[in-house]
Amino acid sequence: MEAKINALREQMEAALAAVHSQEELAAFWQSYLGKKGSIAGLMKELGAVAKEDRPAMGKVINQFKVYAEERYQQVREEMDKQELAARNQSEQVDITMPAVKRPVGSLHPITIVKDQMIDVFAGMGFEIYEGPEIEDDDHNFTRLNVAKNHPARDMQDTFYVAEDIVLRTHTSPGQIRVMDAEKPPIKVLVPGRVFRSDSDATHSPMFHQMEGLVVDKKITLCDLQGMLDQFVKKIFGDGVKTRLRPSYFPFTEPSVEVDVSCFECGGKGCGLCKGTGWIEVLGGGIVHHKVLENCGIDPNEYSGLAFGIGIERIAMLKYGINNIGLLYENDLRFLKQFKD
Ligand code: DAH
Repeated sequence: MEAKINALREQMEAALAAVHSQEELAAFWQSYLGKKGSIAGLMKELGAVAKEDRPAMGKVINQFKVYAEERYQQVREEMDKQELAARNQSEQVDITMPAVKRPVGSLHPITIVKDQMIDVFAGMGFEIYEGPEIEDDDHNFTRLNVAKNHPARDMQDTFYVAEDIVLRTHTSPGQIRVMDAEKPPIKVLVPGRVFRSDSDATHSPMFHQMEGLVVDKKITLCDLQGMLDQFVKKIFGDGVKTRLRPSYFPFTEPSVEVDVSCFECGGKGCGLCKGTGWIEVLGGGIVHHKVLENCGIDPNEYSGLAFGIGIERIAMLKYGINNIGLLYENDLRFLKQFKD
């Protein structure tokens, strides 16, 4: 038996020396250490050994088995090491080689301005809410105090999807959705796409608005002016001032139009401000008590302020863009000018 083991040891070493691949290594395992391999064969032959010699013989075979396993492991580790070295070699990167420049895009001016606006208001504690673009008449008009046949419906040329279903004409329906879902204090921004049947150099059938709504105790027009004053300073520069002019919106009372002092001429009067020194930037006001009531909020306890800002309008003023169509053509020569 011992002679057999010695012969097997030599044979095994020769076989190991010839192993050069994972497949060959697996085959080696099969033929020596596998269930039907040579070492298992030796175990079977134990039966024929004299009973008193069996324990000693068994021990020798076992030792040989442990040895064979160790050798297998060594070869395997060596092979793994070599494979890794070969892979590292073949995947070596020349870090001194000049890199291929990949063109990097930039944010769209609408996105840049929208993000800036959100930043300013987020700093004041506003949260973001986004409502649906397809709205029902109720949210888009009626509960905002614009009843059927109300002349104010003519202020916005509406796209109808079905009877009583519209493409939202403004982000104001977001106010209703937020007040339905939450109790005051409320402080939200509703950015999003809006749609109107209107198209010229400064109007597009699809554009973006940013609604603001604050509902709490003792909210006044002063809060509105304070917030918007901060807003325009952050967007147009510290030098600008705001002015509120009386206006009309069905969902606010009083309603105001907010003007910013002309950042082009400093208020002296120029082409941009049409000689007035002021530029109209947005609408807002104190939330109409009927709108609060429509959302189950007691106007004797709470009051609110609201505003709606046209994002394209702000972007066009900020960047001196004179045609709204440029914002939607995706002409790279135009878009490349707005790297942050
Ligand atoms: N929804 C108005 C529009 O699209 C803008 C607006 C005005 C929104 C006054 C308001 C507001 O929240 O208080 O013309």
